[in-house]
Amino acid sequence: MTEIIDGNAVASEIRDGLTDAIETLADVGARPGLATVLMGDDPASQTYVNMKQRDCEEVGIEGHHVDVAGDAPADELYETIDDLNDNPDVHGYLVQDPVPDHIDYREVIRRIDPAKDVDGFHPENVGRLVAGNARFRPCTPHGVQKILEAYDIDTEGADVTIVGRSRIVGKPLANLLIQKAEDGNATVTVCHSRTDDLGEKTRNADIVVAAVGVPELIDGSMIGDNAVVIDVGVNRVEADTEKGYELVGDVDFESANERASAITPVPGGVGPMTRAMLLYNTVKAASLQEE
Ligand code: GUN
Repeated sequence: MTEIIDGNAVASEIRDGLTDAIETLADVGARPGLATVLMGDDPASQTYVNMKQRDCEEVGIEGHHVDVAGDAPADELYETIDDLNDNPDVHGYLVQDPVPDHIDYREVIRRIDPAKDVDGFHPENVGRLVAGNARFRPCTPHGVQKILEAYDIDTEGADVTIVGRSRIVGKPLANLLIQKAEDGNATVTVCHSRTDDLGEKTRNADIVVAAVGVPELIDGSMIGDNAVVIDVGVNRVEADTEKGYELVGDVDFESANERASAITPVPGGVGPMTRAMLLYNTVKAASLQEE
């Protein structure tokens, strides 16, 4: 029987685990604060930001939010960032991606105080992660690691194929999993849109991580017997539903489910973990700043 991985349950355990650290901070009169910055009015981004704010409230993190008009000049966004860098009540914050076309997101990230960069995107934090000395592990890769840990899926010596080489998921996850850490020591293959014979690379893997943003690209014929399948994809595809769309992953769940020993569903797999790890990083940021 294939085990359907319950990301909501693991995320709930992570949130419960934050309570002690939040109480310790309360003892010294501090409350972790997370700010979200949204430039423009992209509906999907608004939904994500609202969910992050709701998560904060649930665990006792102080949520702050700043809206910046989509047509504002870059300097206005930079001023917002400078203010957040200087605000002692905000221990961590993020600028929701995507930003409007006239904004260079890389420049935005460079302006964020690395000590408050709870996404883990700042070059200093990326460098630390690659050097094996991570301060903030990016939320989605860290969430994937926590799922593997929670389900006793050992990466030691395992062949892991990651499909997708993004800055947010593929690259940091590959770096984490090859490290000599307890939850690393894997042999990692990173595939992308120019990879020859993708199916061969995924079929030979003990663990397949799909993070490529192509709906249902990976089907059962590309999965080895009893492999673990982690689907990071969240794709909106047109459907005859109330909202006019449905969410599907990068994996064709039905066929992959027939081959895998364990698989994450979409929704309810990696998504809730990403959100939980943002709270985790915020509490870590607050602990580091208040110690
Ligand atoms: N947009 C989609 N995912 C993310 C994320 O993890 N962080 C930020 N800042 N924007 C996003």
